[in-house]
Amino acid sequence: MKRWMTLAALALLAAPLFFPAYAASRPPVRGKNGMVVSTSFYASDAGLEILRKGGNAVDAAVAIGFALAVVHPAAGNIGGGGFMVIHHQGEDYTVDYREMAPAAADRDMYLDEEGEVVEGLSTEGYLAAGVPGSVAGMHLAWQKFGKLPWPDVVAPAIRLAQGFEVTHALARSLKGAEKRLGKFPESRRIFLRDGDFYREGETFRQPELERTLRLIAEQGPKVFYEGEIARLIAADNEANGGLITPNDLAGYEARMREPIRGSYRGLEVVSMAPPSSGGVVLVEMLNMIESYPVEHLGLNSAESTHLKAEVMRRAFADRAQYMGDPDFSDIPVEGLISKEYAEGWNRGIRRGWASPSSMISAGEPLGYESDETTHYSVVDGAGGAVATTTTINGGYGNGVTVKGAGFLMNNEMDDFSSKPGVPNMYGVIQGEANSVGPRKRPLSSMTPTIVKKDGKPYLVLGSPGGPTIINTVFQLILNVVDFGLDIQAAVDNPRVHHQWQPDRIRIERNGLPREVLWELQRRGHVLRIVGSIGDAHSIMIDPEDGVLLGAPDPRRGDSKASGF
Ligand code: DON
Repeated sequence: MKRWMTLAALALLAAPLFFPAYAASRPPVRGKNGMVVSTSFYASDAGLEILRKGGNAVDAAVAIGFALAVVHPAAGNIGGGGFMVIHHQGEDYTVDYREMAPAAADRDMYLDEEGEVVEGLSTEGYLAAGVPGSVAGMHLAWQKFGKLPWPDVVAPAIRLAQGFEVTHALARSLKGAEKRLGKFPESRRIFLRDGDFYREGETFRQPELERTLRLIAEQGPKVFYEGEIARLIAADNEANGGLITPNDLAGYEARMREPIRGSYRGLEVVSMAPPSSGGVVLVEMLNMIESYPVEHLGLNSAESTHLKAEVMRRAFADRAQYMGDPDFSDIPVEGLISKEYAEGWNRGIRRGWASPSSMISAGEPLGYESDETTHYSVVDGAGGAVATTTTINGGYGNGVTVKGAGFLMNNEMDDFSSKPGVPNMYGVIQGEANSVGPRKRPLSSMTPTIVKKDGKPYLVLGSPGGPTIINTVFQLILNVVDFGLDIQAAVDNPRVHHQWQPDRIRIERNGLPREVLWELQRRGHVLRIVGSIGDAHSIMIDPEDGVLLGAPDPRRGDSKASGF
């Protein structure tokens, strides 16, 4: 550790020479009584409307979830799943509404006779879909913690489904989805208007979805899992070779799970437990990096980027080896998130050169025996907070719109390992623990997180981006805690990503100066410049005066912080 300290001192002296000064970003949006930040201004305003009506953070989160299902069809959904981390009246809770594999799913369902993965089978069309969890999960959260009547929280989405003005980002996104959606007649008709693509400023009306939402508002989740919507989903599957049956829908269960808890420099980290890998990997990385004088290494410097990459590659090696649905395999969670385990990993990190991933394999934690998602953050005036990440996995999911119901289904089955050791859509390699199985939940990287100070919510965080999600949340925490950035600057700051395999650091375009890139290469890192990483709509609650600071991420879409 001494070497790092010396280096930190040198780095400080040399700072004006090597490290670019941090350019200012806009200030966060301020509020006192409530704050909502999401990828869509329609959805943020829907959440704000609910808060102003006297709803709490959970009511608002549910309203935003339904609103996103209307205005952000690439990721917002009722045909997918997600996770919610909730702070309510002084306690922390998480809701798991991850999709489940249909009962007829099996381990080799995506392999051909030679045992090779059939391309596209787990990502496109009917076989790619898991049983959706969003309606059950949002209802469970509302039932436990909500204040307003259920129909009230669904109402803004119904209104939006009657028609809303298409934004530039949505028009571009729909046009870009031509290949995926064009193959399925119902999707082509609704979202592509049979080739007469929606243009910015036009009104998008979704009468089938409006009807579905009305039924959900009137009858609750029963109509989705056992009633009319269930019948539409099952009939569509039966007619097209899908596996989802009425029994699968009736058997779906959203779950309350114990949060993953860690600490970082005196703050408490509350995040999502398996079947998301997010909380475990995040805490593992924070534990490793806590031993280093990060604040002195320089924001966006070669030194701090090198260290982040080393920490990321190690935690992702463990992810590949150990993680899956906790209802089906034993995951050594306690071992992985212990400070002692992190110390073991740290002994192998070298300052001057990259450790090739081929030399790194998962550690031995105690207790071990044998491109589209969306995140939103909400805080209410009574100290309640919700971090929600929800997804249909790829942009526009599996491309299939349920006939007569007007919503897209997910392709979450691709988050299983189609064949252990073979990379999925995000290039991540995963092990036996995450193989396909009936009624199993695929492993996720979604990392909705609440960081607490003195027992109260301080940061509400999360992002889309597949495996990059965990690293985005990790860097948001370092940016605030170690580098002292305000929440908007922390969100805007360039991001990097390493996931063990493939062995390279992804870096946002124009994110780091050339000299830093050269220095990283000199240490043996392979670099890959990418467009952007994540879309992290975040909130900070100022511990001094309780002011709510909303920070929309400018990277995708029509984001907005709505506060009052
Ligand atoms: O659960 C997961 O980890 C993935 N299905 C998330 C997908 C995602 O974030 C895509 N977004 N860009």
